[in-house]
Amino acid sequence: MDIVAVQANPPLPAWAPPAGLDPVPMKSSAKRRCLAVVLAAGEGKRMRSERPKVLHELAGRSMLAHVLGAVGKAGADTLAIVVGPDQDEVVAEAKRFAPTAEIFIQPAPLGTANAVLAAKTALAGFDDILIAFADTPLVAPETFAKLRHALAESHAVAVLGFEASDPAGYGRLIFEDGALAAIREDKDLREKERRLTLCNAGLMAIEGAHCVALLEAIGKTNAQGEYYLSDAVAAARRRGLEVAVVSAPEEEVLGINDRRQLAAAESVLQARLKAKAMASGVTFLDPERVHLSYDTAFGRDVTIEPDVFFGPRVKIGDGVLVRAFSHLEGAEVGPGAVVGPFARLRPGTALGENVHIGNFVEVKAATLGAGVKANHLAYVGDATIGAGTNIGAGAITCNYDGFTKFHTEVGKGVFVGANAALVAPVKIGAGAYIASGSVVTDDVAADALVVARARQVEKPFWAKAFRAKHRKV
Ligand code: UD1
Ligand code: MG
Repeated sequence: MDIVAVQANPPLPAWAPPAGLDPVPMKSSAKRRCLAVVLAAGEGKRMRSERPKVLHELAGRSMLAHVLGAVGKAGADTLAIVVGPDQDEVVAEAKRFAPTAEIFIQPAPLGTANAVLAAKTALAGFDDILIAFADTPLVAPETFAKLRHALAESHAVAVLGFEASDPAGYGRLIFEDGALAAIREDKDLREKERRLTLCNAGLMAIEGAHCVALLEAIGKTNAQGEYYLSDAVAAARRRGLEVAVVSAPEEEVLGINDRRQLAAAESVLQARLKAKAMASGVTFLDPERVHLSYDTAFGRDVTIEPDVFFGPRVKIGDGVLVRAFSHLEGAEVGPGAVVGPFARLRPGTALGENVHIGNFVEVKAATLGAGVKANHLAYVGDATIGAGTNIGAGAITCNYDGFTKFHTEVGKGVFVGANAALVAPVKIGAGAYIASGSVVTDDVAADALVVARARQVEKPFWAKAFRAKHRKV
């Protein structure tokens, strides 16, 4: 067995997966050090977009972030991300999600094996090299973990296979005497191999000790003149090394090349997220008409009516009812609250227990205490509202003068009359009453009544006289 001596490199910084990621338990008792190499150097022309392909989003975060999250959960200690030249936005997103990841540039797209070798200096010193594709974002952490388990059981290479409903375009798994002998790319297939339906998902795991030698043994004598990562299988077999196949359902290995596939992946992901939410005690009156984000968090006995959109960073407490046509992002909703129909909760919203937010009410960067009611046509922005306060129809906080945002503070048990305008910065004391239509520019003392509008003037019989005058003409 010829193992190429790999020059020792200074170790890459360890990667701490973001908080909230539960690692997949690994079978092997001895901890195997794992490097994940994420390939993102493809051009993604078929997206027809100014935005790099791997930054297109699924369930509220980029494909790249999904893949980084999955390899992190599968126990990757260190990340290497391979990008093409001039992909600053991709680098920025990678750094945002995984600040210690090392970035490698593949100067020209010469194939997937060449892309992994762009990160050659990172490959030394690891037991498991996990190779992931940034445009294959639905692979579950458990599946990456299965590839690692295969390495722990003395396989040099572990590939991910799937039964393709339409195998055209994919590399096929070629078996000889019951063992995987090679992967043949679609363009290199022999005629009788065309009907094989067991295909290569692309990503794979390679034993660290063999990785560089196997990759460097790969040539480019093939139909596309590219260095194929899939040829690592044949290279391993030539050296008498064991190769394993792990299988996955087709929907998990969907690769995204165009917007139709992006939409297909989105619907797979949405179904997954809703299945998980339903298993934890959420009722969707029509699951297909609700959009979730990757991190939407629900308590128990939550009910979601149709046509509700959950953007990123939303947390819903126990027993909440979100009624139809509501749009929520960056909001925390306390237990027992009722939101909507037609409500909009924007980032920085925190609703206490049993808050009611009704139709055409918008809340932004505001904390509403327990039992607050804003049932119709209100805007509450940059505000703190005390428990039990009632915000009347059409009441608004005027939080912006065109340059600066100002805060409104409303105490407990305040009655804000209909159509009141609270001009921030302003403080309303607990228990105060704000008369309807008031424009409140000064602070209001607790338990006071404020009437801040012109007094009503009544002119008896004025209208009758006015009409009579016009009739004479
Ligand atoms: C690859 C597999 C094929 C498999 C298919 C599954 C190879 C040679 N073929 O083909 O067996 O059935 O995935 O979808 O591996 N990339 C780079 N640099 C390159 C080329 C690619 O970084 O020079 C990245 C791409 O950004 C992408 C990934 O590698 O994330 C896969 O590349 P792609 O061109 O889509 O490979 P396929 O032709 O789909
Ligand atoms: Mg592809």
